[in-house]
Order: sequence, then C-alpha cells, then structure tokens
Amino acid sequence: MPNIAIIGSQWGDEGKAKIIDYLSEKADVIIRFQGGANAGHTVIAEGEQFIFHMVPSGIMYPTKVCIIGNGVVFDAEQFIAEVNALREKGISLDNRLFISDLAHLVLPYHKVLDQASESTMKGKKIGTTGRGIGPAYADKVNRIGIRTGDLLDWSSFESKLTTAFEQKRFIIENVYNGSFDFSLNDLIDKYKSISEIIIPKICDTGSYIFNCLQQNKNLLFEGAQGTFLDIDHGTYPFVTSSSTVSGCICSGAGVGPSAINEVVGIVKAYTTRVGNGPFPTELTGETGDKLRTKGVEFGATTGRPRRCGWFDSVQVRKAIQLNGFTRIALTKLDVLNNFDEIKICTHYNKNGENIEQFPSSPIGLDNMEPVFETHPGWETDISQCKKMSELPENAVNYVKRIQELCYSIPILIISVGPDRSQTIEVEPL
Ligand code: GDP
Ligand code: IMO
Ligand code: MG
Repeated sequence: MPNIAIIGSQWGDEGKAKIIDYLSEKADVIIRFQGGANAGHTVIAEGEQFIFHMVPSGIMYPTKVCIIGNGVVFDAEQFIAEVNALREKGISLDNRLFISDLAHLVLPYHKVLDQASESTMKGKKIGTTGRGIGPAYADKVNRIGIRTGDLLDWSSFESKLTTAFEQKRFIIENVYNGSFDFSLNDLIDKYKSISEIIIPKICDTGSYIFNCLQQNKNLLFEGAQGTFLDIDHGTYPFVTSSSTVSGCICSGAGVGPSAINEVVGIVKAYTTRVGNGPFPTELTGETGDKLRTKGVEFGATTGRPRRCGWFDSVQVRKAIQLNGFTRIALTKLDVLNNFDEIKICTHYNKNGENIEQFPSSPIGLDNMEPVFETHPGWETDISQCKKMSELPENAVNYVKRIQELCYSIPILIISVGPDRSQTIEVEPL
C-alpha cells in the first residue's frame, strides 16, 4: 500500500476515523500530525465503539505502531485515560505507541484560558471544544510553550511550569477576573505521576518515521478536524488553531513531501458543522433535524448537536484545491436512505452572479445563496451493500453526480455504515 494521508474535506467529523481504521489493516504506522483532544474520532470494530481524542485511530489493530507527531498539542491526561480504557479491553500498547518529544503539552491552565476567552466573546463565540487548543498553540507560537521532551529533565520542567503557571494565573485573575481551582503544587504532583507513564513513550518520532520509510513500511497520516477549520484557509475566525490541510503533514510529522503518495479526502455525503461560523447549505428546519437524527450528528468530543445541511460541492472543490486529493472516500451515504429528495449545492449565487469558487475569505460568504439541484432519493436500506453494483440506481447516480462536481476524482471508498464491515471499495489504490 502507498503512504496515505487522510484529510477531512468539510468542517470535521466526516468519518475520518472509520476510514483510517479500515485502511489501517494494510498500514504499518499511523501518525497524528496536528490538532489535539479537540478531535473526536469514532471507531467501531467488531461491534465495539471507541472514541479517540489523542490516540491514533489505527490502535485497534494489535500489531500497528501509532505515533503522536510533533505538530499535535498533547493532552497527557486525556491520553492516559484512553490508554487505560484500551488496556481494560485487553489491547496491548507496549512498544507501539510513541509521542514526539517536540509535541507541546496542553496543560490545565490552557483549558481554563480557552473557556475564559470564550466567555468574554458574547455573541461572537467561536464555539470551541474547550480543550485548551487555542491557548496551547498560542504558547507554542509565542515560544513560551512546554514540550513533552521537557519532562525528560524534571528540574527544568518544574521551573518552566512554575513560570508559565504564574503568568497564566496573572492573566486569569487580572484579565478575566477569575481563578484556578488548582495550585502550582497540584500541577507539579499531577505531572510527576503523568511523566512516569509517558516518558517511556517519548522519542524522536521524526527519526522513527524516517527509519520506517527506509524500510518501505506503509504510513497512514491521520488528519484531525477538516479543511474549513484550517487556521489559514478555513472560515476564520471560526476555525481551530492548527493547519488542517495536507500541506501541514510535513511539518507536523517531520517528513518530506515525498513521504506522502496519496491524499484521500474524506467527504460526508451531506454537510455538518459543530460550533459557530458560516455554513451556506445549512438546514435549520425539519430536514436538518432529520439529517441529525439519522446521522446521529452529535459531537464526539462535546456532545453538542451538529448543524446539518445538504452536500456543498463548492466547498469540496475548494478542499480539493487546497489538499490535492488523489482519491475521495464518500462517507455516511446510508444516512440519506429515507429521503425522497436529496439536494446538492452546485454553485452559489451572489447578487445575481453565479459563483463556482468558495471565497478565500469568509466575508465573501455574506449574502451568498446556495443554488441546489434536486435528486430523487433511493428510499432503500443500503447499509448491507458490499459492492457498488448492489447500490440502487438513484444512489449510484447521486454518487456519480458528486464525483462529477468534484473534478471526477476517483472514489476509493463508499461508506454505508459506521462499522468496519460497512465499506464498499470502489477504486482501490
Ligand atoms: P471523524 O471526526 O471524522 O473521525 O468523525 P466522528 O467520529 O466525529 O463522526 C463520524 C460519526 O459517524 C461517528 O459516529 C461514526 O461512527 C459514524 N460513521 C462513520 N461512517 C459512517 C457511515 O458511513 N454511516 C453511518 N451511518 N455512520 C458513520
Ligand atoms: P474531528 O477531528 C468538528 C471546531 C469546534 C469549534 C472550532 C474551534 O473530530 O473532526 P477548538 O476547540 O479547536 O479551538 O474549536 O473547531 N472543532 C471541530 N469540529 N470536528 C473536530 O474534530 C473539531 N475540532 C475542533 O467545534 O467550532
Ligand atoms: Mg469527530
């Protein structure tokens, strides 16, 4: 198998984890390269459901190596909770789960700052996951962050933590008029015990990956969030704080571009968004509610209801441009089973003018009207279909139309249910 990157093409929750789990069977190493515990990646394997926030989604296969790359902001408490849950299920992680020494730590004060910042935004809240992502990346860029590798020298770590804690306490008390419900000593004690668990897993993951490349091992790069949550290219400021597009794999995993052979865009057969910000094809009435219920569209990290709407080809065309997708995996097609009519947004209209391109700035989305074409539904359960030829004609036509509107990129997979087994391979790599 070639080295494959998996990237969300919309606003996250496209079903990336399901596809990563499926493809992991043929991979050797699965690598997260950005984001943090804001990710909620659901894997259902042999009837058992896991939601991963920190641990890569390939971990369910007992022999695969999983790596948390340098571009991730690492939430040690969440990581340990997931490791414990996996161990309880009898999944061994010894010598196959590694954390980059360069990954920045998300500390409890980052979460307090994240929530405090949101609480002052009144009508302009981003709607973050509250997982401390923005403040942790801000410290990284501001060169005052603390990295997992710092844990390897305890006295230096303690000194960095003390300085950072005092600075954050000053901000919380004087800017936000709040307080921490933990002391510096609480933090030091907590991280002393955390360090004992994670130090054996910390290493130079960039060199580890390079060795794998030398040995022709197969790599799978696991994107988190989605293209339109990208800090540069997304619907700023309603975005996350990392770069989510395929271009950031190199810096976030520590590899060169030639390490990536294929870029698979994960495309949901309709559109969802959790959190605030523009959403041209959003359905706020009954049809949106139906999509939410049928698709079980509730955030895997926060439990918030996801906003739902029809498929937006303008958006996905932009994602193709930004990521260089070589294949598409179309997910959650079965969620449309019970609709007599299904709409696709082909382009937008603004003040009478047809717009084919998603605007680079979200200001351009003001007064943008989606233009839809209507397709007949298939009103049949497709969740047990194993081949493209078993899909009803209307479902095939819907998929083909999406493909046509998306530069006719080959379709790798059509997903017709959350389980590993509910996967149709269309044009394999
Ligand atoms: P991710 O963040 O992109 O990995 O996606 P999430 O795990 O947050 O959300 C996707 C949800 O859809 C999860 O509950 C999955 O179990 C589920 N899912 C994934 N693929 C399919 C599919 O093809 N059909 C249905 N019905 N559910 C799916
Ligand atoms: P996965 O990997 C969907 C959204 C939040 C909010 C914005 C900023 O599961 O697809 P943050 O906490 O990152 O500062 O929040 O980004 N968001 C996601 N939405 N899926 C995700 O991850 C998300 N991660 C962040 O809801 O709108
Ligand atoms: Mg998710």
